[in-house]
Amino acid sequence: MKKNKPGAGNSDKQEDLVHFGFRKIPVGEKAGWVLRHFDSVAERYDFSNTILSFGIHHLWKRTAIRMMELKEGASVLDLCGGTGDLAILATSRIGKAGQVILYDINRKMMLTGRLKIIRKGLHDRILYTQGDAECLSFEENTFDAAMVGFGIRNLTNIKKGFEELYRVLKPGGTMMCLEFSRPVSPWFRFLYDIYSFHIMPLAGGILTGSFQAYNYLPESIRLFPLQDDLVGILEGIGYRNVRYRNLTNGIAVVHLGKK
Ligand SMILES: C[S@@+](CC[C@H](N)C(=O)[O-])C[C@H]1O[C@@H](n2cnc3c(N)ncnc32)[C@H](O)[C@@H]1O
Repeated sequence: MKKNKPGAGNSDKQEDLVHFGFRKIPVGEKAGWVLRHFDSVAERYDFSNTILSFGIHHLWKRTAIRMMELKEGASVLDLCGGTGDLAILATSRIGKAGQVILYDINRKMMLTGRLKIIRKGLHDRILYTQGDAECLSFEENTFDAAMVGFGIRNLTNIKKGFEELYRVLKPGGTMMCLEFSRPVSPWFRFLYDIYSFHIMPLAGGILTGSFQAYNYLPESIRLFPLQDDLVGILEGIGYRNVRYRNLTNGIAVVHLGKK
């Protein structure tokens, strides 16, 4: 199966084509495709996530936040924050003096999650900015920590997204990326492939009404750089102390790095 070369982003420069799942589309159209994809699942995103992952995504998110070792009073960027699960978890670590900025391109995803955030009384501690992760509207050296959960895979140029995170982090700041990856055990991988390519698209389609969205999900996961390749990309950008931890045999992985 074709996979990204480390450091190459995910665009094909010669033809100006880029992957949207296994399909290749013009580079300039990818953001629009991703926008429509998340528009089609936004209202049922949290519910279908929990059903399709058997609730495990909550454990992954908790583990990832714990690994960031956020300090009381920290300013945190939640890139591709969507419906806000990571942002919510971060607020409990940084206390009332801290601030989370949730940044996402999709208004519908943010509005859907906003109700959850209001119900938890966190609306004044999680602020929102709508924009593209490849061109952040913040000055350099702004945040103590920056995280991205299950979002970077959707970018037209993944490396650009990580470069932007690096730029807006303060020196010594922590970057955390939680993303789907490849299970380590071949048997587990075999079963996971059956689940993600055959069962999940069907179940996801029934739950959200968007069958196409849940074909895109496993395809985009298979095209994302593997654990060690991502370490190389991050180190190439300048991140220090890059390390990762596989979760559930590598279905998901947490990468950490320092600016
Ligand atoms: C799978 S959701 C993850 C949401 C949340 N971080 C979580 O862990 O549940 C991916 C999010 O990335 C956002 N996204 C995709 N491409 C983006 C881009 N270029 N800039 C900003 N956000 C983007 C989508 O709108 C969506 O809300």
